[in-house]
Amino acid sequence: MSDVQAIVAQMSLEEKAALCTGVNAWATTPIPRLNLPELFMSDGPHGIRRVPDGHLNTKSLPATCFPTASSLAATWDVVLLNRLGQALAEEAIALKTNLILGPGVNMKRSPLCGRNFEYFSEDPHLAGELAASLIDGIQSRGVGTALKHFAANNQEFERFSINAQVDERTLREIYLAAFETAVTKAKPWSVMCAYNKINGTYASEHYQLLTKILKEEWGFAGFVVSDWGAVHDRTASLQAGLDLEMPGPKQTHINAIIEAVRDGRLQQQTLDEAVRRIVGVALLARQTPKSGCFDAAAHHALARQVAAEGMVLLKNNGLLPLQNPQQLAVIGRAAQQPHFQGGGSSHINPTQVDLPFVELQKVAPWAELRFAPGYPDDDCFEPALIAEAVTIAQTADVALLYIALPTFKESEGYDRHDLDLTEQQVALIQAVTAVQPNTVVILNNGAPVVMRDWLDGTAAVLEAWLMGQAGGGAIADILFGRVNPSGKLAETFPLKLSDTPAHLNFPGENGVVRYGEGLFIGYRYYDTKEVPVQFPFGHGLSYTTFTYSNAQLSATSFSDMTDVTVSVDITNTGTLAGKEVVQVYVHDQEARLIRPFKELKGFAKILLQPGETQTVTIPLNFRAFAYYDPAYHQWITEDGQFDILIGASATDIRCTLTATVHSTLQLPTILHNESTIRAWFDDPIGKPILEPMFNELTKQGGLFGNDATADTAIGIDMLSFLMDLPLRSFLHYREESLTQPADDVANMLLEQVHGATS
Ligand code: BGC
Repeated sequence: MSDVQAIVAQMSLEEKAALCTGVNAWATTPIPRLNLPELFMSDGPHGIRRVPDGHLNTKSLPATCFPTASSLAATWDVVLLNRLGQALAEEAIALKTNLILGPGVNMKRSPLCGRNFEYFSEDPHLAGELAASLIDGIQSRGVGTALKHFAANNQEFERFSINAQVDERTLREIYLAAFETAVTKAKPWSVMCAYNKINGTYASEHYQLLTKILKEEWGFAGFVVSDWGAVHDRTASLQAGLDLEMPGPKQTHINAIIEAVRDGRLQQQTLDEAVRRIVGVALLARQTPKSGCFDAAAHHALARQVAAEGMVLLKNNGLLPLQNPQQLAVIGRAAQQPHFQGGGSSHINPTQVDLPFVELQKVAPWAELRFAPGYPDDDCFEPALIAEAVTIAQTADVALLYIALPTFKESEGYDRHDLDLTEQQVALIQAVTAVQPNTVVILNNGAPVVMRDWLDGTAAVLEAWLMGQAGGGAIADILFGRVNPSGKLAETFPLKLSDTPAHLNFPGENGVVRYGEGLFIGYRYYDTKEVPVQFPFGHGLSYTTFTYSNAQLSATSFSDMTDVTVSVDITNTGTLAGKEVVQVYVHDQEARLIRPFKELKGFAKILLQPGETQTVTIPLNFRAFAYYDPAYHQWITEDGQFDILIGASATDIRCTLTATVHSTLQLPTILHNESTIRAWFDDPIGKPILEPMFNELTKQGGLFGNDATADTAIGIDMLSFLMDLPLRSFLHYREESLTQPADDVANMLLEQVHGATS
């Protein structure tokens, strides 16, 4: 008997019910007589919010505030995220935390979601790979993670109750895919269910999601924890596969479990299964002694490095890196009061904070810095602050504008109403750029802002995100070329809000949000609809240049079961060392179902010295070519040609290769009574069965057995007309030419198809 089984076997019903419910806001119920310790959880994901007591939101202990997920994603660096994970684990251990509540891999369906700063990307491949690496780093040090918020939690508006209506294919390809990657690759100790409903059922009671897909299909072995307060019906949630309810204490729910088992509404084995999962993780956690301290200075330095790697140079007319400016006008409140993290459950009490202004002076000690706040920290319009900023900008060599999107515009708990900076900030940028052409805008925000009203006047724009406690120094590093920028966007920056994919269906009404745009979020939408954007997915500038050459596939014609690789030579053609993020997208030339024009299926980040060339190799497997077909309820491939697009961003494709894929799938037929002639002809088994009879029945060209001239009289092309007719209806039209009743003929043909596929 395993340790887990031995413990579960000795537990009373009351102890089991208590274990499935938090003992306080952050810990599970310990059972000292069985030597089962509490499991202590703290928010993440970009730092440890270790609340010192069992209360929900008292001030947390000091911890390193690393950049938030928007910034982490823009690094496109799985190795760095793994290192960051290890640092987070060290802090967790020192702060006596067993499990970090993160990361979050919800998709950025709309840039308006107030919590996008805590999520990685609009692309599930990128989000899944990055999360897997972060989880792996954390868990490699014996600290657990809770991958969240499962699933379809893509907005803050009515987040506790909204019903997300998402079709099966969209769920699988977009909203579940990053979870799937992270679960199957990195095996997080737990998964946190979302607050919202999915297609009418609370995530906390969603048997299909929690048990069928997560646990059975993906083989998830950890426990499912509720988001804090997401449980409504405790029995229903246990039956659905929700193991641990948080926060506690919650005696009414403990009693509900006990009563449900006693009166037979809840099977003992369902409860035991939840208990087994929680005990398993608690025993795993017990192996890592929680003590010691962490190296705050080293982690601060890591936070600075990560922040710099995630910063995206959106625009540069050549002003950056700054060469030798003597007079710098430093404008913007955020230069002195940095906005480096978001509001809500991820809010960290930092060990120290670098002020951008101070860090600038350290990096450029020769320069004379003058400061003006430029804007207030509320939504007021104050022309005097703008006038003051213009005065110092006019006489300086360069103006640096530190623009932070205020908390009232972006946070956990509420969505954004627009994608704009404040009116004052826009006016400030316009006024400063009008007098100073050498103006750099540095942005602190967790999600895209629109720039049409001010971008043209700027010399450069640096997206610095919610950059963590050491971000002030990272900005200085980039401005002065101590670090060559290498971040690339993990989300599209649109030109305007009304261009965004979910615009007509966000945030929903009457308690329902319909994911009407389906698969087409982010670049999948802009690409396919040919909607111009401000900055595309994958975009980011460097102080050097790269060329792509010699692109090759390890095979050009292969079966979907073969893993292939794409390789390409990247050369640093500039004079500075720099990093490039190479992106591989796949375009399906033809498919039975609509597909996004292209999808990211691989990426790599490499460092190249000036003049150096390296070959980058990126693997592609079955899923790089497959899509989820709801007709079969599975991922499928089709025979056909695929373009492999290798590029520096979603719109900067440098090399294109073509591959022929052979599907090995033997799919059951999807032909049925109502299937059209077209569906029969599209079906590889149905076509040869129907074709001879169809040709015979249409040889004179006309629908009613007449010659084609009769149809010409009503001005149609008869063959095209017939394609959308269900076979059964067609046979009814031609019943006179058949030897048996039309329905019998239709059934006979269908039986032949089933016979051939069974
Ligand atoms: C958030 C979670 C968080 C939890 C605990 C919830 O409101 O949605 O992300 O982990 O609180 O703070």
